[in-house]
Amino acid sequence: MDQAAVDAMRGMLDYIDIKGIVVIGEGEKDEAPMLYIGEKVGNWKEDAPELDIAVDPIDGTRLVAHGRPNAISVIAAAERGKIAFLPTFYSFKLAVGPELAGKLDISAPIRENIRVAAAILGKDIHEFTVVILDRERHRKMIEEVRALGARIKLISDGDIAGAIATAMPDSYVDMYIGIGGTPEGILAAAALKSLGGELQIKMWPKDDEERKKAEEMGYDVNKVYYTEDLIDGDNVIFAATGVTDGEFLSGVKYGRHKAITESIVMRSKTRTIRKITAIHNLRFKTIPLKSGGEMKFIRIEL
Ligand code: FBP
Repeated sequence: MDQAAVDAMRGMLDYIDIKGIVVIGEGEKDEAPMLYIGEKVGNWKEDAPELDIAVDPIDGTRLVAHGRPNAISVIAAAERGKIAFLPTFYSFKLAVGPELAGKLDISAPIRENIRVAAAILGKDIHEFTVVILDRERHRKMIEEVRALGARIKLISDGDIAGAIATAMPDSYVDMYIGIGGTPEGILAAAALKSLGGELQIKMWPKDDEERKKAEEMGYDVNKVYYTEDLIDGDNVIFAATGVTDGEFLSGVKYGRHKAITESIVMRSKTRTIRKITAIHNLRFKTIPLKSGGEMKFIRIEL
């Protein structure tokens, strides 16, 4: 299923007038035949703009497999050299919406951050909602937040949507915190830039080998990276399409000969957020799929 998403995303990218390089993708070339880091995407026309491309064709593969909410397909683009690369698989991440941007410190104890944040928002602690990935590694943090009396929304996967929710009006989520994928963090930062929110990241090497590798590459694993460090400048475009129903996007719906999708497109320069509902008529639509370097054009008849 992840493969189908990669093939579909890769197929469409060939039609776009850009000189794109994948900076966040499915991994290294050896393990990913398509959308690997360093791959050229777009049609590379002579005067096309040079862009960094970051993708997660499905954030929440397990969510889709189990029919659970909040799986999305994500892409971000910025001028060449503007999207950061961090070498660890996981990072410790803190995301908040506009009212809390610049007010918290990922290195401070979580209790302190929640108290400060709730005070700024004028909320009682029990009215404050924190999103956390439901993982064993977060057990202590979950207990601490519960002891403080804040609400916890545990998610089983999909922390790009979880982090973005902090900045979406009417999501009723105040903070995302915890250890999750590093690429997912950088992609969430791209969205939070347009939404006026903030994402802080500290790499979380999974073992000594990964720590050593990051240090050998010249990274300081104790450094805090802020939104600006992750996405440099003010010209990033973020787009996501719902795969399964979620809080800010509906999932793909199928009718007779039809598929209905909902997407969100954000541009940080103007902070315009667009929602697009598309009705795809599958009797007329040809879908370009690129798999292992080969382009196929398919028709899906429902
Ligand atoms: P994928 O769908 O790309 O596998 O990622 C799902 C996800 O839940 C991310 O949203 C999250 O950052 C990461 O996995 C957490 O990793 P793990 O499941 O190893 O704790």
